[in-house]
Amino acid sequence: MSILEYNGGIVIAMKGKNCVAIAADRCLTVQMRNISMDFQKIFQVDPHIYIGLPGLATDTKTVSQRLKFRVNLYELRENRRIRPKTFSSMVSNLLYERRFGPYFVEPIIAGIDIKTGQPYVSSMDVIGCTTEPEDFVVSGTCAEQAFGMCETLWKPDMEPDDLFETISQSLMSAFDRNASSGFGGIVYIIEKDKVTVKALKTRMD
Ligand SMILES: *[C@@H]1O[C@H](CO)[C@@H](O)[C@H](O)[C@H]1NC(C)=O
Ligand SMILES: *[C@@H]1O[C@H](CO)[C@@H](O)[C@H](O)[C@H]1NC(C)=O
Repeated sequence: MSILEYNGGIVIAMKGKNCVAIAADRCLTVQMRNISMDFQKIFQVDPHIYIGLPGLATDTKTVSQRLKFRVNLYELRENRRIRPKTFSSMVSNLLYERRFGPYFVEPIIAGIDIKTGQPYVSSMDVIGCTTEPEDFVVSGTCAEQAFGMCETLWKPDMEPDDLFETISQSLMSAFDRNASSGFGGIVYIIEKDKVTVKALKTRMD
């Protein structure tokens, strides 16, 4: 078993029209055994930027804390708020520094650029090789299933409500097909002037 599959979990991010969504499941599983049903995989970086860190649960915590430290330092030094693309480079740097003993997380970043109002999503592998697609990004133990769902349901220029429905259906259909992820979901819809958080009740087996 790959170390990336030791703990289960799935994170999806999707672009909409002037909005972006990021969603994850809530489980903490160890080799498919359930340990907890409210494990946090999505972290706020800035009111407009969120990061999802599926992978090894201990590294999820470590990386989220190290990133918080670096973002605070950046904002103190630069005296301005970090932009999603800059943050993505920062995460990539942090991971590549550990090229030969990596953190076992495959991050997903979602945000709105407060200057331009444009949505941004990116994903990367354990050593920070980044992709920045125009539609959606997926990472975690049921990524194959989630890719299938997202490719079927995603369409360009969705409004926030439509985006919420699309990402939730993709997430739930994907993790219901995989034993190591699931146990409820959480969805963040990020717009220029507000963030909506919704919890999804799903089957718990
Ligand atoms: C669920 O994901 C894990 C890890 O990727 C994999 O080992 C397992 O076979 C998957 N199960 C199903 C039913 O797809
Ligand atoms: C694991 O799942 C089973 C079946 O849903 C449940 O009864 C049990 O309480 C769960 N254990 C934990 C630690 O959440």
